[in-house]
Amino acid sequence: MKNNSRTFALFGNPVAQSLSPLMHGAAFRAMEIDASYRALRMENVRDIPVKMEELDINGASITIPHKTGIMRYLDTVSGSAARIGAVNTITRTNGRLQGDNTDWTGIVLALSEALEIKGKRFAVLGAGGAARAAVYGIINEGGTPVVVNRTTEKGEQVAKEFGCDFYPLEEIQKITGDCLINTTPVGMFPNMDASPVSAKMLEHFKWVMDTIYNPLETRLLKDAARAGRQTLSGAAMFVHQGAQQIRIWTGLEPPTNLMKKVVLERLRDETD
Ligand code: ATR
Repeated sequence: MKNNSRTFALFGNPVAQSLSPLMHGAAFRAMEIDASYRALRMENVRDIPVKMEELDINGASITIPHKTGIMRYLDTVSGSAARIGAVNTITRTNGRLQGDNTDWTGIVLALSEALEIKGKRFAVLGAGGAARAAVYGIINEGGTPVVVNRTTEKGEQVAKEFGCDFYPLEEIQKITGDCLINTTPVGMFPNMDASPVSAKMLEHFKWVMDTIYNPLETRLLKDAARAGRQTLSGAAMFVHQGAQQIRIWTGLEPPTNLMKKVVLERLRDETD
């Protein structure tokens, strides 16, 4: 017997540590939507569409390492996801799969809580999917991104594709800008003593954002706060990318503040 309950899932590998089930579960309950959201570990990307069909899944979040690989299994992909080259959101309607990217919206909305993007210059550290989402989002909002990466070839490629400047990481001292955004995994749990740039470099920027949310306050953000810079943790981006997924899946406005509260509470518990 079929009921009206809707089914959502997170696909990735690993997924056990993810806060998405907690966050989306809290949001659906508050919205009084009869829905389940669970994390499913997937080793092979091609099993994702099969599982969505089998479990009659209405919407899915896609995480590492499948954000790019999933694209060939989708019926349609949004313009922004195609440009970024990564899909983190799938909507299944009448058996057809549509791919979207809400990471760029997440970064834009998180930044917008602190500053106006338009007319500002951003140093984006990294050249992977998160960096591409940041670069796309900043350009979309009228800001100027500068790509900074350890490997020149990869950084230059991203800069060329999006028509922006590139600097190798070891030349970061040559850049001045309004905001520095880290999209590399440097400083992520358990390597909490690491930072992608030396504390001295942070004097060049007024704002410093990390896309890492575990720990909530990375070494980079600690150094930035100590240098008197304004800091933005990755938690805001995480919450906003999830909130945008709910808008896409339901057409309704999600309880973003509640989502932020449950995520921050859990992350604070973990650092206690
Ligand atoms: P994602 O898709 O999540 O953004 P990714 O594609 O693995 O992740 O990209 C990670 C980025 O972090 C890469 O640009 C990588 O730099 P390289 O292109 O030189 O590999 C960067 N990165 C990872 N570890 C790093 C480190 N220890 N120092 C500096 N940059 C690092």
